[in-house]
Amino acid sequence: MTVIKTTPFEGQKPGTSGLRKTVKTFTQPNYLENFVQAIFDCVPELRGSLLVLGGDGRFYNDKAIHIILRMAAANGVARVLVGQNGILSTPAVSALIRKYDAAGGIILSASHNPGGPNGDFGIKFNSANGGPAPESVTNAIYARTQIIDNYEILSAQDVDLSALAKTKMSEMDIEIIDSVRDYQEMMEMLFDFSAISNLFKSGMTFCFDAMHAVTGPYAKSIFGKLGVPDTSLINAVPLADFGGGHPDPNPVYAKALFEKMFSEDGPDFGAASDGDGDRNIVLGRKLYVSPSDSLAIIAANAHLVPGYNAGVKGIARSMPTSRAADLVAEKLGVPYFETPTGWKFFGNLLDDGQITLCGEESAGASSDHIREKDGLWAILMWLNIVAARRQSVVDIVNAHWKEYGRNYYSRHDYEEIENTKAESVMQGLRDQLDDLPGKVFGAETISEATSFTYKDPVDGSTSENQGLMVKFESGSRFVFRLSGTGTVGATLRLYLEKYEPGDGKLDGDLQETLAPIAKIAAEITKLNALTGRVGPTTIS
Ligand code: G1P
Ligand code: ZN
Repeated sequence: MTVIKTTPFEGQKPGTSGLRKTVKTFTQPNYLENFVQAIFDCVPELRGSLLVLGGDGRFYNDKAIHIILRMAAANGVARVLVGQNGILSTPAVSALIRKYDAAGGIILSASHNPGGPNGDFGIKFNSANGGPAPESVTNAIYARTQIIDNYEILSAQDVDLSALAKTKMSEMDIEIIDSVRDYQEMMEMLFDFSAISNLFKSGMTFCFDAMHAVTGPYAKSIFGKLGVPDTSLINAVPLADFGGGHPDPNPVYAKALFEKMFSEDGPDFGAASDGDGDRNIVLGRKLYVSPSDSLAIIAANAHLVPGYNAGVKGIARSMPTSRAADLVAEKLGVPYFETPTGWKFFGNLLDDGQITLCGEESAGASSDHIREKDGLWAILMWLNIVAARRQSVVDIVNAHWKEYGRNYYSRHDYEEIENTKAESVMQGLRDQLDDLPGKVFGAETISEATSFTYKDPVDGSTSENQGLMVKFESGSRFVFRLSGTGTVGATLRLYLEKYEPGDGKLDGDLQETLAPIAKIAAEITKLNALTGRVGPTTIS
């Protein structure tokens, strides 16, 4: 074992979901090592225990795994489960931590950010409950990185990650495991595989876009078992640079899938997942199901799925996510919660048994089966609901809107703007919050304007400055917040929502319907003047 002297790097502060930086930043000598040592220093339970390790296969995944294994051995970890070829989806890591009582897991991913030598890399620590470490832990890790002066590493040969085998590195046991098996077994417990495979037997056409990211092998195995032909799975081979694309399932980056689904004789059901397999989108023929609606529809129909036939205990959504799920919770008579953006805030509610389902507008949904969002789970949920209701995705969405009303919803992202400009938009709005209520803009009157603070109902901890929210008397609203996952400049997100009751106009054009709210948001914040942009970079 060697103790290597090091000096702190600035900015090793985990964001919304772990530490994300460019590959160039991560591959500087000692950069990864410092952060990993900070994890071992702040989570002493790892000594003598089991660690789960894997990533989304992006550039630097395998090298990072070899470094972390040697550091784990030097730091007294007893045993490590590593996904074959270093591959484990984020939901699979969460499932493995829980199944095998690990003290934690390290996930190597920058989720939907681009990969390759010029792309991004990331590392995230998940705790023993399988979920992203809470802020108390990530803050401690950050604090440690600021004073770190050495790290411990073993000099050892790289282990062969390609063969399923058990081996040892000094005293530490290493097991290279099938990346898919445990996760798939869990899915087979939750869903009615025979009902879903009957859908495909009866001719339902399907397309899944793995975006050259981690879900390729998972999709091949799971959808293969359901009788889906390989030709229905596109971009299913994981590549270190995701084939040059952003593995972000939205209309911009999942272009191939959207084109198929909006073509004249496109498939009946379309879906995609992201870089590390935790996000999902679902499409019907010529219809993209907004992730906020998806959470609501999953909640309203969960009782039709074997794993959830006991009903839903409660539902949580992140603050910028539309209120569609709240309406379902109200009807079901179960509690609902509004949390800050980021999966870590759902953990306590899930652990405490207060909720069964949770989700975010950013294509994330999941349940209490693990402590991460889960892309393939959400897609299987939809397939199971389609099978049980014997209705298409399009019919299910329309019926839902009729019953609950429609929450028109869209997110406008202003990407790679200078930090100072993004901050000036936020500060400008923050300064006006007290004066906004009562002001009239066209047909809308502002009822409430707040900076969102979350008080965790389980541990009482408080998280401030989680986004600026402006609500109107009509029930419409807009939210501004700064992204915590970007690596270049700042990304300003504007979230727009307008509610239309079930007997109102449900088939309006999405952007047209939201345009008046977007205009008010821009007017109040002087958005265009302050950012120097004429419009958003990405609309989802
Ligand atoms: C984004 C999403 C957020 C999600 C996170 C990790 O974070 O908005 O909902 O939890 O990615 O996938 P942001 O960049 O907005 O901080
Ligand atoms: Zn992701």
